Amino acid sequence: MREIAYQKCINPTCGATYSISEVLFNCHKCGSLLDVLYDWDRTPMPREMSFFETRWGTRESIVDFSGVWRFRELLPFARERDIVTIGEGRTNMQTADLLAREIGMRPGNLFLQYEGLNPSGSFKDNGMTAAFTLARMLGRKRVACASTGNTSASLAMFASLSATNGGQAKQGIVFIGTGKIAYGKLSQALDYGALTLQIEGDFDACLRRVREASDQLGLYLMNSVNPFRLEGQKAIMYRILEARDWHVPDWIIVPGGNLGNSSAFGKAYAELYELGLVDKIPRLAVIVAHGANTLYELHERQGLRWNKGYVDCEKIGTLYNRMDQSGYKPHTIASAIEISRPVNLPKCLRALDTMNGLVRQVSDDDILEHKAMVGRFGFGCEPASGASVAGLNMLLREKVISPDEDVVCILTGHELKDPDATVRYHTGIDMKAAEPPPAKPVTGKYANVPIRVADDIDAICKILDEHSIVEPDRGALPVGQST
Ligand code: F0G
Repeated sequence: MREIAYQKCINPTCGATYSISEVLFNCHKCGSLLDVLYDWDRTPMPREMSFFETRWGTRESIVDFSGVWRFRELLPFARERDIVTIGEGRTNMQTADLLAREIGMRPGNLFLQYEGLNPSGSFKDNGMTAAFTLARMLGRKRVACASTGNTSASLAMFASLSATNGGQAKQGIVFIGTGKIAYGKLSQALDYGALTLQIEGDFDACLRRVREASDQLGLYLMNSVNPFRLEGQKAIMYRILEARDWHVPDWIIVPGGNLGNSSAFGKAYAELYELGLVDKIPRLAVIVAHGANTLYELHERQGLRWNKGYVDCEKIGTLYNRMDQSGYKPHTIASAIEISRPVNLPKCLRALDTMNGLVRQVSDDDILEHKAMVGRFGFGCEPASGASVAGLNMLLREKVISPDEDVVCILTGHELKDPDATVRYHTGIDMKAAEPPPAKPVTGKYANVPIRVADDIDAICKILDEHSIVEPDRGALPVGQST
């Protein structure tokens, strides 16, 4: 009898199946991506989503306390004793009324899902916990990824902690492109002790090489081409439902890079709907950067569709050939999503189909401006995450989204991942440059330029008065009570 969980090729003309114990990242028969599928009839399933919230406050059980594994019935490939968890997924959904007002939405309708609040500071921990769990079930000891920064930070953190809870020590190996990584992320991989290879090339080159190295040396590949990563990332959708008292929003908006998240979100909703656990599927908007817009080009301009799995691969091949011939290299300030050959493209097309989705591209200026808005009116985020709010604003102006629809923007990475981008926005100074060039003029609407002032109390008080935006409190505190 077939196992409850198995892998299946997404190509309908192939449809080959494999055991979950087979380590492969593409179908051996046709080369397409693989899904992790379940025989739902043979796995216990709660009748309502609200079942999961009973586990919410169970601190004694580390699996219940995880924001991924408290939904374990919805990713039932894992043997419970092998679950590797570091406290991922205890993230926050904010009702962002101040930001809603700023962009012309009705307060109470805009929600920000802060995935930067994960232990390693990005959404990647949701997927990494699942991939590490499988690696432990299979006894794999060397784990590797290519990364624009966050995957490597997450992998490195999980690898460094893998010997806890009775686990076996693992070596984390990360491939990063030269000069393409925000220092917050690089510093994490180094600090957590991962073997870090800086490849002369961009993310796409790194991914190609790490796949070759994995094939040759048997490294366990942890990029989102690993379908178990995406199983964990489905939990972001579950937690959003949980935070909204199980009410499905109208829209989910997410930045797109390698398209793992969007693919996972589509799978999550397809399954919840099939299982009768939701009665509606939200719409999906995937937002890419102008400078790395493969998905936009193919989906919006060339009309490429999932088409029940019969994806027109020639269209993709022609675009990639054109990129190669012209020497095209993706380029965006949002280095996390600077990817021109997204590996999960077909799965993302499927998600767009399931969720009646669309794709938009936003400029670097828009990304920075909306990132600054999230900082000014929320908890802040890294540049790539700002793309989701920039995309929302664009869709509001296009009247595709109306101000009183319920919208959740996924903020994929923490504010402190890329402080250089933030400081540059506010000051015009490039902190990373070896010889700091003169500051560029500061033009951002939310720019908050630091004020230079002499070490002199009168000068300081004068500045504070000049810049006061609230009525000054009357009278000074009695002496001695000022601290
Ligand atoms: N936002 C952030 C902050 C990311 O780090 C990434 C991807 C994305 C969005 C795009 O997500 O790939 O699921 O579409 N970062 C990867 C990395 C590529 O290597 O850290 P996606």
